[in-house]
Amino acid sequence: MALDIKNIRAQFPALHQEVHGRPLVYFDNAATSQKPQMVIDAIAHYYNKENSNIHRGVHFLSQQATDKYEVAREAVRRFINADAIEEIIITRGTTEAINLVASCLSQWLFKEGDEIIISAIEHHSNIVPWQMACERSGAVLKVIPVLDSGELDMDAYRNLLNDKTKLVAVNHISNALGTINPVEEMIPLAQEKGALVLIDGAQSAPHTDIDVQALNCDFYCFSAHKMYGPTGVGVLHGKKEILEKMPPYHGGGEMIKEVKFEGSTYNDLPFKFEGGTPNIAGGIGLEASIRFIEEIGIENIAAQEAELLAYATEKLKETGGIRFVGEAKNKAGVVSFLIEGIHPYDAGTILDKLGIAIRTGHHCAQPVMDRFDIPGTMRASFAVYNTKEEIDVFIEGIHKVKQMFG
Ligand code: ALA
Repeated sequence: MALDIKNIRAQFPALHQEVHGRPLVYFDNAATSQKPQMVIDAIAHYYNKENSNIHRGVHFLSQQATDKYEVAREAVRRFINADAIEEIIITRGTTEAINLVASCLSQWLFKEGDEIIISAIEHHSNIVPWQMACERSGAVLKVIPVLDSGELDMDAYRNLLNDKTKLVAVNHISNALGTINPVEEMIPLAQEKGALVLIDGAQSAPHTDIDVQALNCDFYCFSAHKMYGPTGVGVLHGKKEILEKMPPYHGGGEMIKEVKFEGSTYNDLPFKFEGGTPNIAGGIGLEASIRFIEEIGIENIAAQEAELLAYATEKLKETGGIRFVGEAKNKAGVVSFLIEGIHPYDAGTILDKLGIAIRTGHHCAQPVMDRFDIPGTMRASFAVYNTKEEIDVFIEGIHKVKQMFG
């Protein structure tokens, strides 16, 4: 279905502004997407009319806010086709979700000599929590290497798996390279060895259909702010039977059944993992962002972004002197590249002066840059509201950068 991009763009107030006197071209969507009016309105409405704490009050506003927050949880369940709402823990984002799992598993599961496998193309948030878990438990971190194409070395992955493997944690889509990892293949391979699998879906939630029951992963996490929702809120999905066995993460209000000085008992799922007043407006905004995606259709979003990726790649190639970093066959709408002889930071600064927002640097994935022996890349990442005309402006910008530094 051809999308009405003009109408979609009209829903995003932040896209309609000038930066340094030029119309904004926003290609930093892998860092965070812009927000549609319906998300902004949902958050404003909560603060204007509904502001109240949830799960605590008998009064009208509290019950209304609680209902809306729980509607958001159900929307998340539907969005990722989870089996039950008990499996949906609302967190501050992907980073908190991964830290929650790493912290709880290091108390409950990992022992000296166990192995945790991650990949060479992880975001720092899917590396450092596991390093911390290894320090706490004596487990050992193993890394799946990446091929020159930006794809994971699946033979090496098979060889790394063994009876000591307790957990595999990989991203669904790499933020630095755009590689879509074959998680459908990776999950059962790990589970055959008795390992749990966590999928970091921060980059996939806005671009790909997610079905946690079909994937059969043990944990799946993502952030609202990369999928047209607010910052500071995200999701951890976990299989109920595992979440039930895991100890709690944060102690505090709402995560308990009964508190005595002699000891406390913990609440049922999902509240056992949701101590403290949550980001209520964020949860309500997340629900609106899911509605936004569902109204367009994730398959239509994916098709639009695939077109943008193909167009941008072809146009960049035509300019010459481009080194692409990450050329996986299966890629999301991310182009990471370098212009020969020009530091990404310098190029990014010139593009900014032309109103073009891209990200430059290591993209919170320093090991990827070390692997490719580069200081960083320039990264253009697309969302459903981007257009080929914007890519043409970006390509003109690349020509200007080359003229200035060439
Ligand atoms: N993880 C975000 C990015 O890739 C911040 O830019």
